[in-house]
Order: sequence, then structure tokens, then C-alpha cells
Amino acid sequence: SNPVKLAVIPGDGIGPEVVAEALKVLDAVTADSDVTFEKTEYRLGAGRFLDDGEVLPAAEFEEIKKADAILLGAVGGKPNDPRLANANIERGLLLKLRFELDHYVNLRPTVVYPTVESPLKNPGEVDFVVVREGTEGPYVGNGGSIRIGTPAEVANEVSVNTAYGVERVVRFAFAQASARRKKLTLVHKTNVLVFAGKLWRRIVDQVSAEFPEVEVDYLHVDAATIFLVTDPARFDVIVTDNLFGDILTDLAGAISGGIGLAASGNINPDGTFPSMFEPVHGSAPDIAGQQIADPTAAILSVALLLSHLGLADASAKVTAAVQRDLASRSGARSTAQVGDSIVSLLN
Ligand code: NAD
Ligand code: IPM
Ligand code: MN
Repeated sequence: SNPVKLAVIPGDGIGPEVVAEALKVLDAVTADSDVTFEKTEYRLGAGRFLDDGEVLPAAEFEEIKKADAILLGAVGGKPNDPRLANANIERGLLLKLRFELDHYVNLRPTVVYPTVESPLKNPGEVDFVVVREGTEGPYVGNGGSIRIGTPAEVANEVSVNTAYGVERVVRFAFAQASARRKKLTLVHKTNVLVFAGKLWRRIVDQVSAEFPEVEVDYLHVDAATIFLVTDPARFDVIVTDNLFGDILTDLAGAISGGIGLAASGNINPDGTFPSMFEPVHGSAPDIAGQQIADPTAAILSVALLLSHLGLADASAKVTAAVQRDLASRSGARSTAQVGDSIVSLLN
């Protein structure tokens, strides 16, 4: 069969460190199968910007669009690097990919494996997935500032929610719930953000009629953070907007035993554009270059990628190897040692 064209964007900081391990695992799990991956690496991110001022050159973007899937490590430099003050790598690269490739589903699963030390004393059986809207909300850059730098400065950042955009992500979330434990929780802030709140509520109610088997629940986002800590086992599928989903999934990563375990898929379910798989975490400048980042999130992102490409067996093998590795963890290991261990536990 034709090779799978994989665009690889290692990025900055710990991005290249964790991507190296993810590719090790991808190579190993596909080694004696009929599938081959043709990888093309793109040097994009803060490092590239500092070299030549480029964030996402059109020619490279056109190539990436033609890939079958994208694997990304993390992008972004040190928060206070003055040379990056006007670079806006996050918007010009990461969000541009998500928006232009119409990644309207940002799928972020959380499982608390019993063998992993969670900061929660008794997490219970935690297995939920956050379906975060990926192309709208406060992320779209609809805003502006006036009288900048004066005491009269006004900065607006408007959240955009379209019926079309909300409906497609809500329908995807219901389908997920239907295939899982049949429970969907809408998380929003309808008591304050009433306009967007009404739209989300109404669409959830409407789509709910198509999925009568799915029980629907609603939580305000502030209360959702309570239950993510006190009773995370109550969740099956959470559907929420772009910004709430961003915040909730860092918390979800933390309760699962660390942000270094949290994987994600930026998915274009229609298949019009390549989907992009990446850890939830960022470039972690505070630990970059030390080979101490946990590559598990990047490796589990490969499992999501394999599953998205229809390679369910390979995906399950990666997840199982990660689980075995988590069960046998002891002492400090380097990033490469974790990757090697997971490769050795594949079967
Ligand atoms: P971060 O996720 O990079 O780091 C937060 C904390 O988690 C840090 O203490 C870090 O050391 C730790 N951490 C993260 N990944 C880890 C791993 N794999 N193993 C162990 N510890 C890990 O978030 P931040 O510090 O807010 O952001 C740093 C930069 O990354 C910023 O430029 C930000 O914009 C960018 N960022 C990029 C992405 C992405 O590319 N998808 C995501 C989030 C943040
Ligand atoms: C994430 C990140 C991004 C987001 C940033 C870097 C734009 O935090 O992938 O969670 O907010 O979506
Ligand atoms: Mn985030």
C-alpha cells in the first residue's frame, strides 16, 4: 500500500526531545507491518523564527496540507524572550494550523491508570474525554485595542460561536458518548456568558434528540473544576468551548499523574485536511535540553494518530505498552529511557 505521508513538526524546547521518542515508537510498532510512514520534518517554531524570521512559510504550509497526518511536539520560546515579543508563534503557527486545517475537534482523553500516582488520593476509575472546540471561541483573534499604552486603553477579545461550528463539535461529542458510557457533560458558563451559553445549550438539546441513549448533564466551568478534583470518575465525555477546554485539559493532565501523560488530537473529522496529533503540554523551557521531559504524552499522541488512520491494532499496542511502562515505573529516567522502555514493551 501507499506510504502514509507524515509531516513532523518537532518544534521548540522539549518538543524535539519527546518527538524523537514518539517516532521511535511509531517506527517500532509499524516495523513488521504493511504500513510504511514517509516522514517529512519541518523546522518550525521559535527557533526557526529566530533564525530567519519565518513562522509558517506558504510553501511549507502547502506541503503540510498535503500530508496524511501531522505529528507536532510543542512550539513556543521562553515566555519573556524579548526577541519573540512580536513573533506570536502560537497564533501564527499552531492556531493557524488548527484553524486553516479545520481541526474543529480537539480530542483530549484522560485515563487515570491505577498504577500511576495521581495527586488525588482516591481518584476512582477515571476515563473521560474532553471534546474541545478547536476553531472558534475567544481564540479567533476577533478583537482589538485602542488608545494603547494610555490609562484609557481598551482591549476587546470577542468570543465567536457559530451555530455551524457549535453543532458540528457537539454532534461529534454525542457520537463519542454514544460509543462510550453514554454520558455527555456540557461545560460552559451560561450564567454569565449568556449569548454563547444559550447557543451551546440549545444545540446540545437539539442534537440530544438524535442520541436518546446519551444522558446529558451540564456544569458551569468553575464547578467543573471542583468535580475534576473531587469526583473525576463522574465524567465520560465533556464538550466545551476552545478556552474552557484548554484550561480543563491541563487540569485533567495533572490529575492523571502529570501533564507529561496527556495526549491530544486536533481532528478534522471530514478528512478534508490532515489531522494533527500533539501532546497537550508546551515546550517547557524550564526543563528543555535536560532529557528529563516525559515523552509519554507524545507517544500516546502517536496512538491517537494510528487510531485516526484506521490502524487500530498498532494504536492498541502502543497504548498497552505505555500502560505496562507506567505499571513498572520506578526512579528517575531520561526521556530516551522512557521511550526505549515503551518500545521494549511493545508486542
Ligand atoms: P508547558 O506545558 O510547556 O509547561 C508547564 C509545566 O509543565 C512546566 O513546569 C513544564 O516543565 C511541565 N511539563 C510540560 N511538559 C512536560 C513533560 N512532557 N514532562 C514533564 N514536565 C512537563 O506550559 P507553559 O510553560 O505555559 O508554556 C511554555 C511554552 O509552550 C509557551 O511558549 C507556550 O505558549 C507554549 N505552548 C505550546 C503548546 C503547543 O505547542 N501545543 C502547548 C502549550 C504551551
Ligand atoms: C494547548 C496550548 C495552546 C492552546 C496554545 C499554545 C495556543 O495551550 O494546545 O493547549 O491554548 O490551545
Ligand atoms: Mn493548553
